[in-house]
Amino acid sequence: MPINYNEKEKIFHLQALDTSYIIQICESGYIAHLYWGRKIKKLNFNNKPILKSSNYNVLDLDLPLDKLPQEYPMYGKSDFRNPAFHVQLENGSTISEFKYAFHKIYKGKPKLEGLPATYVENDDEADTLEITMVDSLTGLNIKLLYTVFNNLNVITRSVKFINEGTQKLRLLKAMSVSVDFDNSDYDMLQLSGAWARESNIYKRELVPGIQAVDSLRGISSAQQNPFIALLSKNADEIHGEAYGFNLVYSGNFTAEVYVDQFLTTRVSMGINPFDFSWLLEPKESFTTPEVVMVYSKAGIGEMSRTYHKLYRRRMCRGTYRDKERPILVNNWEATYFNFNEEKIKDIAKAGSELGIELFVLDDGWFANRNSDNCSLGDWIVDKNKLPNGLSKLAEDINEMGLSFGLWFEPEMVSPNSDLYRKHPNWCLHVPDRKRSSGRNQRNQLVLDLTRKDVCDEIIRMVSDILKNAPISYVKWDMNRPLTEMGSDKLSPERQRETAHRYVLGLYRIMNEITSSFPNILFESCSSGGGRFDPAILYYMPQTWTSDCTDAVERLKIQYGTSIAYPSITMGAHVSTCPNHQVGRMTSIDMRGNVAMSGNFGYELDLTKFTSEEKDIVKKQVEYYKEIRHIVQFGDFYRIKSPYEGNETAWIFVTEDKKEAVASYFRVLAKPNILSARLKFEGLNPDYMYEIVGEDMIFSGEELMYIGVDIPIIDEEHYRVYGDFYTVRWRLKKVE
Ligand code: DGJ
Repeated sequence: MPINYNEKEKIFHLQALDTSYIIQICESGYIAHLYWGRKIKKLNFNNKPILKSSNYNVLDLDLPLDKLPQEYPMYGKSDFRNPAFHVQLENGSTISEFKYAFHKIYKGKPKLEGLPATYVENDDEADTLEITMVDSLTGLNIKLLYTVFNNLNVITRSVKFINEGTQKLRLLKAMSVSVDFDNSDYDMLQLSGAWARESNIYKRELVPGIQAVDSLRGISSAQQNPFIALLSKNADEIHGEAYGFNLVYSGNFTAEVYVDQFLTTRVSMGINPFDFSWLLEPKESFTTPEVVMVYSKAGIGEMSRTYHKLYRRRMCRGTYRDKERPILVNNWEATYFNFNEEKIKDIAKAGSELGIELFVLDDGWFANRNSDNCSLGDWIVDKNKLPNGLSKLAEDINEMGLSFGLWFEPEMVSPNSDLYRKHPNWCLHVPDRKRSSGRNQRNQLVLDLTRKDVCDEIIRMVSDILKNAPISYVKWDMNRPLTEMGSDKLSPERQRETAHRYVLGLYRIMNEITSSFPNILFESCSSGGGRFDPAILYYMPQTWTSDCTDAVERLKIQYGTSIAYPSITMGAHVSTCPNHQVGRMTSIDMRGNVAMSGNFGYELDLTKFTSEEKDIVKKQVEYYKEIRHIVQFGDFYRIKSPYEGNETAWIFVTEDKKEAVASYFRVLAKPNILSARLKFEGLNPDYMYEIVGEDMIFSGEELMYIGVDIPIIDEEHYRVYGDFYTVRWRLKKVE
């Protein structure tokens, strides 16, 4: 049984595949955290050093809480570390006193009301523990939810507050998780960046005090992804321990790592408490988003692969979850706003001749949208550009053998739009303050998704378009952060609920639209990866990873994103040269190979390619079709990091280990070097593998322990000649 309760010692032992998590109820009623890490197969309940540390004695009623590792620490008693929650009573006081009340253990995993979360398809996949603690003064109940996945090293947590008392309570802080570690010998890994520079990896040594990542932008953000990991000091891709925390949420969040006076560490993660509060009337409840916690005893690589498996199978949903994704061509970088029907069809036609499967019409197809400063909210086709309408265009493109996809930015409104003229108060705003315009200071406001009428109208507008044309794919964009977070419809005491209510409104919209159109593939986007988080993946199984399409920058972005998110979720396109974001000229091989390491496509004017370039594209498309099942559903092993030098390498291996595809990238050429070897990972050492197209056979052992030669390209002069060099190997088990 993955969750055991020892009645005598009052100990819960949660066991996922290869990890244990241990909780004890103290004599005082406080709930202590005893352990999280490698699986303890035989737990000796008399084990003094573990269960009754000399730092604290769970029998001690007067134990200073500052010394007790806890499951969900409160504020105002003798614990001076950061509390997991903060509640205000009607009399203004903010002190809590919560004690264990009861618990429940059951098979399966409950849904979280209105919130995306991991799920099970069969109750045997997971077990759940609910511990309820109660504050006897106020009657507030806190239910701590833990789900243990039996076949993965995953524990998910969330918290439900239920006001069973008679007074109004105000939640000022409500973290999804708090975990105490008994030391601080860890590094913290985070995925940070900016627009076009998302998910760069940063590591820092823990020091006393708070180290944190957060967002106050109303979206999970390109600046800080809602993910952190604690790594043991020796950890690398294959060694050491890694503890991952990923918040399933798309709005303001915080992830704090607090090292205290005794050099113990408290990790907490959840909705950002700044400018947040939630009024709980009697009988009302509040559920926090879920945190997905992954433990790995075999380095960062294994942690990532656990997240990938979980997200591919039990976060993403719908028709496309297990389907190979189409190769697309998108017109954004080809035309921006400057296109007409003929141009679009020409690009689609060129795409169809090269084997591309989906054409995506990006921004600019509606109202008078000739630049990014108008028309959002008026989702009516622009007859100047597309005189025959969307449906006819989609049909014509279908006839070329491509399916048709369309761009939307449904959460926004331009002041220069009919929608805004009709409903000037449908955007987020506060009384008497100027409304800050977004997207490069141009005119774009955010619709108030806390309002039901606004959400209903968005659902209606988008659905109308989707119903009336053969659309197989939607790119759901969102191009500015939230400002003036306030709503016309909320009472003054609920204004600080705006940011969270926005996210809940968004989830309702996404849920309704994606379930009404189950055969449409949805790709999310927020100026690239501004909202690349697991919550959005619950509704839309792929995300445009970054607006930066430069292959060199993409190495870092995709490598960083892969720390938590699987390749199938990462949109990756070949774009033109010089690159539009950085002006770099890279080889088409390099651009192709980087993009083929994700969810592959093109974003350039294919009609401008020479016939040689078209031949290369054709081959890339054919090649990707052959390897797509490996890249999209295989296990991912990072071999060389772009953060550590001039070279990057990785390999995808199918779950049965019978097929693999490895890639190597060298950014800048170096003179006078010897050819080096690349050691593969993740293969079966006992299998014999053929290197496809090279007529060579090696054992898995040879490929992993000795490695393959990275070819010198200019054999005659025995040198690497040219920057942006890439090689790939496709491996097949010899039966
Ligand atoms: C931002 C997206 O990331 C781009 O790919 C493109 O769709 C533009 N928005 C369109 O406005």
